Amino acid sequence: MKKFLPLFIVSLILCFCMGGFSGSANNSYVFSEVGAQSDDVSMTYEDGKLTIEGLDEAANLMQASFTGKVLTGVKLLEAKNGTTEVTANIGDKFFLWSATNAMRPLSAAVTVRPAEQPEPSNNILVAYFSRTGENYSVGTITTGNTAIVAQMIAEQTGGDLFEIKPVTPYPSDYQEMLAVAQREAAENARPEIADTAVNMQDYDVVFIGYPIWNGDMPKIVYHFLESYDFSGKTVVPFNTHEGSGQGSTQRNIENLLPNATVPRGLAVRGATAQNSRSEAESAVKNWLSGLNLPAPGTGSGA
Ligand SMILES: Cc1cc2nc3c(=O)[nH]c(=O)nc-3n(C[C@H](O)[C@H](O)[C@H](O)COP(=O)(O)O)c2cc1C
Repeated sequence: MKKFLPLFIVSLILCFCMGGFSGSANNSYVFSEVGAQSDDVSMTYEDGKLTIEGLDEAANLMQASFTGKVLTGVKLLEAKNGTTEVTANIGDKFFLWSATNAMRPLSAAVTVRPAEQPEPSNNILVAYFSRTGENYSVGTITTGNTAIVAQMIAEQTGGDLFEIKPVTPYPSDYQEMLAVAQREAAENARPEIADTAVNMQDYDVVFIGYPIWNGDMPKIVYHFLESYDFSGKTVVPFNTHEGSGQGSTQRNIENLLPNATVPRGLAVRGATAQNSRSEAESAVKNWLSGLNLPAPGTGSGA
């Protein structure tokens, strides 16, 4: 141990000159350089393995850690361009010193720092159709009932919102709307969608929201679901209504998308979404917590 004493002292001084230790709990590491490295020696750290390149003489590797003893893991490296494996924690510093000359540093200090956590790719889409204007039980509204629930789901899941809008707007008059919906149902229409620019391959989980019209989904929602390949994805229905619950939509979506997983959907009263938001929010929260959605990237994603 005596042999290393001068090194310990120099290392300690260097440690604190270079800004001390950083140290927050984190599972991933990056090996960031502190100061320029000398003698073309480089140290890189990946997956628990420290790689040292450019050594032209035997060297001591020192691992300094802030765990009471301050300095641990002194190791003699014999090979030129040697590679060695060390375990490291956030805040650990590494130094290379000449094995023959205790005062000759071969590298600057490098510190293991918390890696920037990459944003997990958001794999959730919250697509919905909703109508503003005059409606049953809520009067004339400027944000549709289903839109309100869609926003709650997007907020609670971090999903991307997408509104399914018709090329030809629906009437805001309620009676006129009933007539249009009946006609679409009779014709089994597929109303045109204004914006079709969804990169569906980016999503593993797709929430699909709609009002109940005559016990079923509006035909424009059929058109949306028929426009993409949902194989391998999880498609989660949610809807608003004024008494029909989900109507026939759960079964209809399951039949329409036989290659998708379709968990049990959520039905919220339109008037509750519009006028009792905290009640609606709790319903959304409870439902979401029971869904066990796949983790990002584990669905088809393609
Ligand atoms: C054309 C039309 C048909 C409807 N049919 C039903 C129905 O069969 N059952 C039901 O419970 N509610 C029905 N409703 C009420 C809507 O489902 C409810 O108001 C819903 O919250 C509207 O959502 P939105 O504001 O997102 O469009 C209907 C509403 C309209 C406009």
